[in-house]
Amino acid sequence: MENVLDMFRLDGKVALVTGGAGSYGRTYSYGHQAVIGLLGAGADVWIASRTLKKNEEYAAMLREQGFDKIHVATFDQGDEASILALRDKIMEESGRFDILVNNSVYRCKEPEGWYDDPAFFRKSLDINGTGLFLVTRTFGKIMIDQGEGGSIINIGSYMGELSADEYLYKDLDIDCWSGADYFYNKGGMHNMTRLFAGFFGPHNIRCNCVSLGGLFNYQDPLFLDRYCKKTFLGRMANETDLMGLIVYLASDASRYMTGAVIPLDGGYSAK
Ligand SMILES: NC(=O)c1ccc[n+]([C@@H]2O[C@H](COP(=O)([O-])OP(=O)(O)OC[C@H]3O[C@@H](n4cnc5c(N)ncnc54)[C@H](O)[C@@H]3O)[C@@H](O)[C@H]2O)c1
Repeated sequence: MENVLDMFRLDGKVALVTGGAGSYGRTYSYGHQAVIGLLGAGADVWIASRTLKKNEEYAAMLREQGFDKIHVATFDQGDEASILALRDKIMEESGRFDILVNNSVYRCKEPEGWYDDPAFFRKSLDINGTGLFLVTRTFGKIMIDQGEGGSIINIGSYMGELSADEYLYKDLDIDCWSGADYFYNKGGMHNMTRLFAGFFGPHNIRCNCVSLGGLFNYQDPLFLDRYCKKTFLGRMANETDLMGLIVYLASDASRYMTGAVIPLDGGYSAK
């Protein structure tokens, strides 16, 4: 009889978490939670984004904490050649591939927001839409050829399900209508989860999506108060909330789950 806790172990598995140290600081990124969750469960974990130095420093910090199965590479999700080069590097050095966490997101710095040059929106679609597809197609193929199944986890957002809420930002210097591309891309990611689940399902490669709520990052107190009141649990996500679900979705514990978009938002989207 299988031990239920053993089903969560990831020893011998190789994972990639796209994105790296994160732009908000290390412990306050969802990518970091995915990385330490997978490392803690025994996997080898690759991180990759456009700049090596920041990720090398981040990896050094993790090694100091005893996580020596962290690996670092570079790639640009907007450039297919670099996605293929990342695949080759991981296969050369780790020899196998089992878990893909699509965590990278390109956030357009649109100076004018809603009325900006459409070039901003197009660039975002290229990295967050086309790039998401190419990363998943590339690493999915490795898992198909390997023939041992696998898990793909898309890091989504409640903004892929709901509209912007103007009330949260009232009287603050934040334009909730800028970043329209983000809503489009996350909505697309949520439904691509179902398409990937269908395409990869016959190979026992599962694909699920976590629809995340806002992560606490010392936001303006007015925003915090309004946001927290919109959740059942009365708070934003903290620096460990995502870890357990990532390990569950990556591991055998969820082996019959695919095509699911799971809210992890303190009840924000249920209220
Ligand atoms: N922070 C939140 O409140 C929140 C809420 C819901 C969902 N999310 C989701 O969580 C994930 C991580 O978000 P975060 O807030 O930690 O973001 P972040 O900005 O800290 O991390 C995004 C990562 O993507 C990488 N990236 C950007 N452009 C890239 C490119 N062209 N090629 C490769 N990598 C690239 C960045 O280097 C960075 O490491 C994202 O998918 C985001 O949509 C975040």
